[in-house]
Amino acid sequence: MSFRYIGSKARVVNTILEHIGKPDGGKFVDAFCGTGAVAEAASNAGWPVLVNDHLASSAIMSLARIISTKQASFLGLGGYKNAVADLNCVEPIPGFIWREYSPASSGYGTVERKYFTEENAGKIDGVRCQIASWRNGGLIDEWESYLLIADLMIAANRVANTAGTYGCFLSKWQKIAFASLSLSPRELREDAASAMISNCDVLDVRCNPDDTVYLDPPYTKRQYAAYYHILETIALGDEPIIEGVCGIRPWRHIASDYCYKVRASKALANLVSTLPARRIFLSYSTEAHVSLEALDETLQQLGNVVRHDLETIGRYRPNRAASEKASAVGEVLFYLEKSAKKGMVAA
Ligand SMILES: C[S@@+](CC[C@H](N)C(=O)[O-])C[C@H]1O[C@@H](n2cnc3c(N)ncnc32)[C@H](O)[C@@H]1O
Repeated sequence: MSFRYIGSKARVVNTILEHIGKPDGGKFVDAFCGTGAVAEAASNAGWPVLVNDHLASSAIMSLARIISTKQASFLGLGGYKNAVADLNCVEPIPGFIWREYSPASSGYGTVERKYFTEENAGKIDGVRCQIASWRNGGLIDEWESYLLIADLMIAANRVANTAGTYGCFLSKWQKIAFASLSLSPRELREDAASAMISNCDVLDVRCNPDDTVYLDPPYTKRQYAAYYHILETIALGDEPIIEGVCGIRPWRHIASDYCYKVRASKALANLVSTLPARRIFLSYSTEAHVSLEALDETLQQLGNVVRHDLETIGRYRPNRAASEKASAVGEVLFYLEKSAKKGMVAA
């Protein structure tokens, strides 16, 4: 699944899994799952996996990567591939996405938004409406609807006129935006280890001492809820009151503490100390709000810590001064094995 997502671990997922290792009796919790790249690798390795994200769009996208044909048989529609083929024949409708995120928006307000062509935006509305109607009519169950919504989000992403996120649309149309929206069925696994989904704040994720928790928190000021707002609207199928030129749905109620320089350190300390799981893996970066040294120190107070330096990624810089200041970003994976003797971290 190709999906450009800020902070995606798609490139380093194999190395991460090597460190995480084989199933050990507990479940694997991808608590900030994003695109689900790490969850999928863990599921492939045989772990029972719980995906969680406070964005429904991310939790759904991630679940779609780990469910099996048994969990999404589409008996009511003659199979998964038939369901996707039916969706590709749905007629466009002038719904919320068409009204707010295509040039049709100029007829309803003061801004002409160019996230999608009118044709593709109407198609997104039509497909989303069809999925809801199948779900309401009992033709598909909840997980089958998640899978189709995930396929729709991926299809929408392929024709979005953006620079990779939905923080804003591009003022000039890219060629890709004129391709017709089309959903592609994915190859579902035949027999996956068990899959679970939750859509809550990371502090509310259910886990046990025997579980292995993987934490990949945001580490810059970019709030995912704002940057991926249209995917969230497609996932929820609602019609929020949106704001500004970019038409962003309300997101401040789920603003992430990890995105604020002044809050991130305390939030991370609180998270790792309160999580009941004994084994915790934490991805972080050299270019993040909290220094790796400070993070290491926080973790050391809770148990045994091993730091793995995964990879250094060259980074585009706008000018030479910026390049000299910091030309590369390092990915680090901390492994914390909590010790019962050590107490809470003083934040
Ligand atoms: C760095 S991304 C994870 C990327 C993911 N590992 C991947 O490979 O695609 C961080 C994720 O954390 C989620 N997030 C941020 N704050 C959260 C919170 N307080 N609780 C749950 N999820 C949160 C964001 O929505 C985002 O999807």
